[in-house]
Amino acid sequence: MPLETPTFKTIIEPFRIKSLEPIYFTTPEQRAALLAEAGYNPFLLRAEHVLIDLLTDSGTGALSAKQWSGMIASDESYAGAQSFYRFEAAVKDITGFKHVIPTHQGRAAEHILFANTVDKTKAVLNNTHFDTTRANIEAQGGQALDLVIAEGRQPRTIHPFKGNMDLEALEAAIQRIGPANIPMVMITVTNNSGGGQPVSMANVRAVSQIAHRYGLPLIIDACRFAENSWFVKLREEGYADKTPLEIARELFSYADGCTMSAKKDGMSNIGGFLALNDDGLAQRCRNLEILTEGFPTYGGMAGYDLEAIAVGLYEALQADYLRYRIRSIEYLGDKLTAFGIPIVQPTGGHALYIDARAMLPHIPDAQYPAWSLNNALYLLGGVRGVEIGSIMFGKQPDGSENSAPLDLVRLAFPRRVYTQSHVDYLAEVLLALQQQREQIRGHRIVWQAPVLRHFTIRMEPV
Ligand code: F0G
Repeated sequence: MPLETPTFKTIIEPFRIKSLEPIYFTTPEQRAALLAEAGYNPFLLRAEHVLIDLLTDSGTGALSAKQWSGMIASDESYAGAQSFYRFEAAVKDITGFKHVIPTHQGRAAEHILFANTVDKTKAVLNNTHFDTTRANIEAQGGQALDLVIAEGRQPRTIHPFKGNMDLEALEAAIQRIGPANIPMVMITVTNNSGGGQPVSMANVRAVSQIAHRYGLPLIIDACRFAENSWFVKLREEGYADKTPLEIARELFSYADGCTMSAKKDGMSNIGGFLALNDDGLAQRCRNLEILTEGFPTYGGMAGYDLEAIAVGLYEALQADYLRYRIRSIEYLGDKLTAFGIPIVQPTGGHALYIDARAMLPHIPDAQYPAWSLNNALYLLGGVRGVEIGSIMFGKQPDGSENSAPLDLVRLAFPRRVYTQSHVDYLAEVLLALQQQREQIRGHRIVWQAPVLRHFTIRMEPV
């Protein structure tokens, strides 16, 4: 009798470890001193003093052996390097766009695009602009409008595609503002600022139809296109049997271009690109690129960065990898929900978001619950997340202070870096925090910069 093979339920990391980077343990006393020295701002800690670093999933991933081998074989020619042509072929194969303009990271692609399309009479419509996207539109004098569906703003409402654009609001905004004042419609997949929530293919298709009916191009902010493709496969009817690559190709087929930070689903430590179908706009963007990024066949990257991305874009689309990645976040989410810790539901692609206002109701908004929770997380367990709340968004252009709509701690997972035992440890730390949550104190501001204050702010416990 042959042995019967059951369907194994444990989803394992689909890699083994060949090159090690140690992480360092600190004592609670050391962390208390280090955090005080850093002005109670985790951005100002030295990374070696952080045990598990969930500050961002951007540029923090592990490279594969295949990426390293491509990097060793890179062509560092200033113009026309083979590495560029390998990179360009990968981007064209996956996205189908005609022009591929490399940039040193995502915000450089945004800058080049908006400098050529936005001025103070213009508005860009998006499900939710990421902060650099918004800042680059506003730096040109334009307006950035967020039109995500209502469910996307409600932390505990369950919806399979909370990143979807509100189609009625989109059409109403186009009619109100007038197509002549809208250089493009954008859609961010997954919707990072809204909790790493996916956008459905049906929604992208509908957004594309509306935009095109008014003669407007659709540009995808594609940072996490592979994770979005996996959610479409899991949750949208008709996609279960398609590969993530097929799904990604369909997604891009509805758009006229994309901006990309390859530090996310490009699986690279640095890099990005702008891809466009419009010949004239691509020409103008290349002209500006030469001024700010470099020659159009390297765009601020080394040849080995181009190689890492050419391989990484396909690795991000591997089903085994995506299954492990999305499941790791969901696994942590299931544990926290069982502990009664309020999180943004359902868990998204690259990160888990804790609703600090709901977890720490004794800390008033003016004493920054999410900032305080993130600091407590470091003090208790050496873990660093990031506040996405009233310190990041609360300061108004006129200098006044408003509470952010959501006060969240984001735990973003670097790609292919941490294993299940790291996640189990993290859950244990969070449970200990939940049990002692009433002891967590608020914070007040000691010093702040005029803009983007969260990076350098100095705080103290109340
Ligand atoms: N768009 C989205 C949706 C992003 O999440 C980011 C970066 C960018 C654009 C800009 O790309 O950093 O390469 O210039 N997000 C990082 C984060 C920083 O932590 O979420 P970049």
